[in-house]
Amino acid sequence: MINLAKKRLLLGITGGVAAYKAAELVRLLVRQNVEVQVVMTQAACQFIKPVTMQALSGRPVFTDLWDNRIDNGMAHIDFTRDIDVAVVAPASADFIAKLAHGLADDLLSTLCLARMCPLLVAPAMNRQMWENPATRRNVAQIGADGITILGPDSGAQACGETGMGRMLEAEDLMAGIEAFFQPKLLQGRHVLVTAGPTFEAIDAVRGITNSSSGKMGYAVARAAMEAGAEVTLVSGPTCLKPPAGARVVNVTTAQQMLKAVNESVNWADIFISVAAVADYYVLNPSEQKIKKDAHILTLELAPNPDIVSNVVNLPNPPFCVGFAAESENLHEYAEMKRRRKNLPLLAANLVQTAIGGDDNELVLFDDDGDHPLPRAPKITLARQLIAHIAKLYQKIQKDGKSA
Ligand code: C5P
Repeated sequence: MINLAKKRLLLGITGGVAAYKAAELVRLLVRQNVEVQVVMTQAACQFIKPVTMQALSGRPVFTDLWDNRIDNGMAHIDFTRDIDVAVVAPASADFIAKLAHGLADDLLSTLCLARMCPLLVAPAMNRQMWENPATRRNVAQIGADGITILGPDSGAQACGETGMGRMLEAEDLMAGIEAFFQPKLLQGRHVLVTAGPTFEAIDAVRGITNSSSGKMGYAVARAAMEAGAEVTLVSGPTCLKPPAGARVVNVTTAQQMLKAVNESVNWADIFISVAAVADYYVLNPSEQKIKKDAHILTLELAPNPDIVSNVVNLPNPPFCVGFAAESENLHEYAEMKRRRKNLPLLAANLVQTAIGGDDNELVLFDDDGDHPLPRAPKITLARQLIAHIAKLYQKIQKDGKSA
């Protein structure tokens, strides 16, 4: 797992209204202790002042190929020699055209041509410019040249139109940069993840659910994407934004979750069941809101299907990973659950530390015993879990054993 701290990043800003988002991106990068060197084109300086970027990055900003602050006059060479990654955000249609054709007529385009590090670009332009055949050709060309393209997004544009071409938000760019550095341990694999709670209706407004924010499952889906997998995320009701690029199936009840899983499972190499599925559903829920009165109300509950066990018992199951939330005796209960459900791997957490927050701690149980993962942000734990899954999965592939 790769940490961004102490990485050296060159941020190029070109002329587009989305330049304001680059300021937020610098703030997020600096917060993660990334060393950011900003280079701006002349057009970018029309949208945002270099002094803003200097204040946020804590370094002088360069805009000119002929800047005499560079002793040997070779900024275009010097700037990318010790850099881990260059990111151009926003990248205008004009700048992408320059990259596609190898033009080098200002500082930023020259150092992109002279660079020895990977380059990520975040396009930002009006939807007609994005859809123009010339831009389509240029984007395809820079992709073929090994440049990673982050976004764009679709939605409302500064010009008043709506469509494809707006730059990703700073947080999404940050996620894209982090993803770029993660090892591609699951490249080409298909991963199916369930996340969040399920909700079983009692009447038109009330229901039975489990307390689950979905944060751990969404982090696992994101970590699998970062590792190069194609991901389907079957999610119960949450307030979370799914990771960019994942196929998302939203469900409410356990029955719907089972159906969605069954529809995708044949395609999956790995199934990670993070969802906190409600154990029971209400027989005969009322379509109308039940009126309150002084009498005791009795609900008839029937057990829900066990989704992960259904998958494990398929004739040709994917590699299955379960989760367990326990309030006590974590080791004993989790290992018992792993054996009962016949899972090669189970990740267990204590409900007291796991639910709702951004941090967690996990213990992984497999045939070799237990592997504690100390307290950390959920995305960090998810990346560690994915690394562990990739190791076991590769071993099974090599030994020719089925999960
Ligand atoms: O038995 P318990 O619900 O604690 O098991 C937890 C594991 O089983 C989790 O991986 C959860 O997603 C999965 N599960 C399931 N279907 C259920 C209940 C739990 O897939 N009905």
